[in-house]
Amino acid sequence: MTSEILQRARDFEAQYAAFIPEAERPAFHVTGAVGWINDPNGFSCYKGEYHLFYQYHPYTTNWGPMHWGHVKTKDFIRWERLPVAIAPDTEADRDGCFSGSAIELADGRQMLVYTGVYKTRRTDGWMEEFQQQCVAFGDGVNYEKYPGNPVLDGSDLPAGGSVLDFRDPKVWQEPDGTFLMVAGNRTPDGSGAIRLFESPDGTHWSYAGTLDSSRNEYGRMWECPDFFPLDGQQVLLVSPQEMTAVGLEFHAGFGSIALLGSYDPAARRFERERVQSIDYGTDFYAPQTLQSCDGRRIMIAWMQNWATAGCQPQSPRWFGQMTLPRELSIRNGRLIQNPVRELEHYRGRRVCYKDLLVTGETNLSGVSGRLLDLTVTIRPVDARSSYQAFKIRLAKDGQRETLIRYKVSSSTLRLDRTHSGFPYDIVNLRDFPVRPQNGTVKLRIILDRYSLEVFVNDGEQAASMTIYTPISAQNISFEAVEGAVYIDVEQYTLNFGQEDAE
Ligand code: FRU
Repeated sequence: MTSEILQRARDFEAQYAAFIPEAERPAFHVTGAVGWINDPNGFSCYKGEYHLFYQYHPYTTNWGPMHWGHVKTKDFIRWERLPVAIAPDTEADRDGCFSGSAIELADGRQMLVYTGVYKTRRTDGWMEEFQQQCVAFGDGVNYEKYPGNPVLDGSDLPAGGSVLDFRDPKVWQEPDGTFLMVAGNRTPDGSGAIRLFESPDGTHWSYAGTLDSSRNEYGRMWECPDFFPLDGQQVLLVSPQEMTAVGLEFHAGFGSIALLGSYDPAARRFERERVQSIDYGTDFYAPQTLQSCDGRRIMIAWMQNWATAGCQPQSPRWFGQMTLPRELSIRNGRLIQNPVRELEHYRGRRVCYKDLLVTGETNLSGVSGRLLDLTVTIRPVDARSSYQAFKIRLAKDGQRETLIRYKVSSSTLRLDRTHSGFPYDIVNLRDFPVRPQNGTVKLRIILDRYSLEVFVNDGEQAASMTIYTPISAQNISFEAVEGAVYIDVEQYTLNFGQEDAE
């Protein structure tokens, strides 16, 4: 049965989404039908299609009582909108349906596993928010919440586990049919721990161990865990709050990190070996993965940062977007990310330059736009030649530009939106080290109107940044600073129909 609260949200998006012109949104990055979105939820395969839900507050462009918005896709690029899936409308989730995941059941139903939130006022007047895990079952459009919710609450946690910070369940099924779930929790020292739970049927769950904990290193509370095997190793993804900056690897505040190691499924023990940032840009949080029908591990994340989400452009009635789904692999002990290969089906006109000598700022005929798949390879002229830096300016007009700069002496890449025209004093710049090979650096840059995602050296590093520069700023230029370089440029326009002649 559709509750009044859910129906109201469905009616609201049906009525108002149409007022947002498609050309004023990203073309292939997911946004909400209308209003605010944050974390990706329930990214999973169901009946041969890929479903994506998201934290959703349709009524304003700010975070509010959380619903789950819903889209699905066959190719990770073109998304079909579905009505709001769930709303905060039961006792167990009356103050919000927080993040979670989804899975296809053997009987053909889709199960959503999410965090139900309810608030109560303590005797001293302080409001406390309790978090517990809930499930709902549906057919890919409509969902019934399980009457026995919550299926896990604070009493299921080991001693010391916080009943106030217990959220973001990610579920999967083992070959023997057992359901497993990881969820974020806080330990008595205030830091994060990833708890593992098991269930024979998806509704009866019990605690099965703690996979890893931050011990106040790598941030404090760990949100939105995901846990999966990849190329012979085991990967734990978490999004820590309150990170302390470490060199250029980890920036302060909200981050997302990958813990790589080994896993003994019989003992349910994870042995962490290495830790790295997942994305080195300004806007990336709460990633979640699925395994595609052809066996690829694909990750999507919220392309935003909580620290700056309050600063929004004036006009659009949408706020928050997802990253492009990325294919994951492991190379030389590092997490590798590349755009899903399906993007290539949308490539249109190709413009190519080979061994082009660049010195001062140069425009290239045919290279411009805001809907592009652009690869730039930067090579020193010869072993003795030198240059100080190489700059790519994007989304540029007479007043505005967004800069990608490679600095030779430090082997660092910079993304800088200081002059992109966004009128807020937010974090506008990020530097991170890259690994040139024989002095060569290769950058694949995906532009979708209001964002850029940069993939360095075939996915060794990724960096995402949102920009809100008017679409009329289309120019791109290249410049070698104090010297000269050779570059190769391969640009494809991305075509999604007639409206995308930009
Ligand atoms: C992460 C997060 C989750 C929570 C959700 C609420 O961005 O804080 O931990 O479930 O957002 O919207």
